[in-house]
Amino acid sequence: MTAQKDQLGVGIVGCGNISGAYFRGLTRFDGLRIAGCTDLSEELARAAGDRYGVPVYDSVEALAAADDVDILVNLTPPLAHESVTRTLLATGKHVFTEKPLTASFATAAPLVAEARERGVLFGSAPDTFLGSAGQTARAAVDAGLIGEVIGASAFVTHSKAELWHPDPTFLFTRGGGPALDMGPYYIAALVNLLGPVASVAASARIGSPVRPVSTPGRRVDSIEVRIPTHASATLDFASGAIGTVLASFDVWDHNLPFIELYGSQGTLSVPDPNNYDDTVRVRLHDEAEWRELPAVIDGFTCGVPEELLPLRGPGVADLAAAITGEPFRTSSDFALHVLEVLDAIANGTDGAQALTTTCERPEPATATWRSAVTEETATA
Ligand SMILES: NC(=O)c1ccc[n+]([C@@H]2O[C@H](COP(=O)([O-])OP(=O)(O)OC[C@H]3O[C@@H](n4cnc5c(N)ncnc54)[C@H](O)[C@@H]3O)[C@@H](O)[C@H]2O)c1
Repeated sequence: MTAQKDQLGVGIVGCGNISGAYFRGLTRFDGLRIAGCTDLSEELARAAGDRYGVPVYDSVEALAAADDVDILVNLTPPLAHESVTRTLLATGKHVFTEKPLTASFATAAPLVAEARERGVLFGSAPDTFLGSAGQTARAAVDAGLIGEVIGASAFVTHSKAELWHPDPTFLFTRGGGPALDMGPYYIAALVNLLGPVASVAASARIGSPVRPVSTPGRRVDSIEVRIPTHASATLDFASGAIGTVLASFDVWDHNLPFIELYGSQGTLSVPDPNNYDDTVRVRLHDEAEWRELPAVIDGFTCGVPEELLPLRGPGVADLAAAITGEPFRTSSDFALHVLEVLDAIANGTDGAQALTTTCERPEPATATWRSAVTEETATA
């Protein structure tokens, strides 16, 4: 480990779709530099290395062994998370993984235990709750703006992947589904706001057993659905709040909000938890109109030119800060609890299922990123 250096080196494992958001986003943190990347596809790794000026390694092991790599970031597909993360943890370096932690609670729990035994930090996306929207909503709840939170709702709806993805099969097989794919953003946001969940009661079913794919240039014409695609759940939070969650690839169109909190004094409207910085709104019972809440921290993506979006990175920076003793907000303890909730929603439960994990609410965050991003800083 290189604790004396000004910057910690980040190694990227998996140079697919989301990796550009990390290559660009991590440059916004002064204490981090991308030290290398690798992918099973040499072509993809080389393309990323050339584009972002990063050394390319021909294997995960070679990247992990590099002296200037302190943190390994797993950006492989969900079904590969378990084996890749296990390999990464075995190197004794700190590990951050994309969501979900792994494809199931049962496979994730041993990895979290292993990280603890090895004394390394293990973190996981989603980290979007560290953005200005998540933090503003959290500050509002903590200040008692809407009084006691009695209920909450979250609606995780269709990504319509059959219309734009060349082969969305992975979304309809183990490790996919609405709960595990998009659900992490919503449940992480709720646990950040309301604390841990005590029990989940959920019903889940397959919508259509076969789904046509109409994407122009598609690689498959249809998908055989292997997992539930429509789930409805009641979450009993330890705080006493009751959550209503819909997670579905069978709701094509709707007029539903993303997340709302229903308090004794008013309602808080929380924007899309897949984003860092949209606007939080509130309407107290005695107010005639909704009003926007001023953001409590600078947004991670505010002012970033459209062509440089999306960006990712606050979670990796959070882990880096935790190495020096700062609070670890995106820890795998938190993500494991979120995954246990998601697993119950995804598969349905036999009555109310008490959860075996719990977690602390993450500490409120401050903005640790540079205030502006330009083409130059994004690719530096
Ligand atoms: N695509 C998005 O918009 C998006 C957004 C947020 C989060 N995520 C998450 O990011 C992760 C990656 O998603 P993606 O869309 O970039 O997937 P992707 O399939 O586009 O890319 C994954 C890459 O990982 C590589 N890979 C697989 N196994 C590997 C291994 N053992 N060693 C090295 N490389 C390996 C693949 O070759 C591929 O290039 C997933 O967990 C997903 O849930 C994706």
